[in-house]
Amino acid sequence: MDGDNLTGAVVASFDGSPDPRTREVMSALVRHLHAFAREVDLTEQEYFRGIDFLTRTGQISTETRQEFVLLADVLGLSMLTVGLDTKLPPEATAATVFGPFFVEGSPAYELGDDIANGAPGQPCLVGGRILNISGEPVAGALLETWQADEDGFYDVQKNLGVPQNRGHFTTDAEGNFSFWSVRPVAYPIPDDGPVGELLRAGGRGPMRPAHIHFMVTAPGYARLITHVFAAGDEYLANDAVFGVKDSLIAEFTEHPAGTAPDGRELDRPYASVHYDLVLAPTEETL
Ligand code: BEZ
Ligand code: FE
Repeated sequence: MDGDNLTGAVVASFDGSPDPRTREVMSALVRHLHAFAREVDLTEQEYFRGIDFLTRTGQISTETRQEFVLLADVLGLSMLTVGLDTKLPPEATAATVFGPFFVEGSPAYELGDDIANGAPGQPCLVGGRILNISGEPVAGALLETWQADEDGFYDVQKNLGVPQNRGHFTTDAEGNFSFWSVRPVAYPIPDDGPVGELLRAGGRGPMRPAHIHFMVTAPGYARLITHVFAAGDEYLANDAVFGVKDSLIAEFTEHPAGTAPDGRELDRPYASVHYDLVLAPTEETL
């Protein structure tokens, strides 16, 4: 069977699927995979190297380390899918990658609480409002947040058994949220596995610009998964996972020691950031 017939035969082998979407996806996957092999004139040695890479990607994956997601992240597939799947109105806050460090069931906090829980870093007051696309507050929204400490580590990477810089809040009647954490810094994605090898082979770095993760859920609104990035970070233009959107960049302001706007007394300099998160209505309510 020559190359063209081979591709056609493999595509046709899915014709018997009762699910039209399976036929569509598998047909496109086979055609593009074969076109890729033809375009690069794939050698058998390269084929086996690729199989070995994927095998090791699976072997290093655990409940808490998802190397395939990381691979999709560094290849831009995660960000592409976010854009394809989430058609948001222009007024809504843009979505970005979820990342591997979200933990279900984070601690509940009151607005204004300190969620750092002993994590190293400069105190940072984070605040904003959850709004709808008409600019009205969304009261009672669930805001989940997580971020790395000043050493660039998430709590789950430190195996502390206690949550740090991670928690959830409910917005008040004006849609406000606020909390203290630490000023986020740029950090490397896990690069001690196959994905790290790929980055090095490609002459690429593992760094992500400083950011805070948010996930916002409220009845009648599309769930928002996003980050707020720190303006001026040196990695904004080359995020290892291509997650930066200009609209998600906010100024983190430096303040001398003293009384913060919420009345907290700081004996050392602190930072603050204010960012409003705008929710799109669910498709049913559009
Ligand atoms: C993160 O921001 O937590 C993240 C996103 C993608 C890959 C690795 C980390
Ligand atoms: Fe992150």
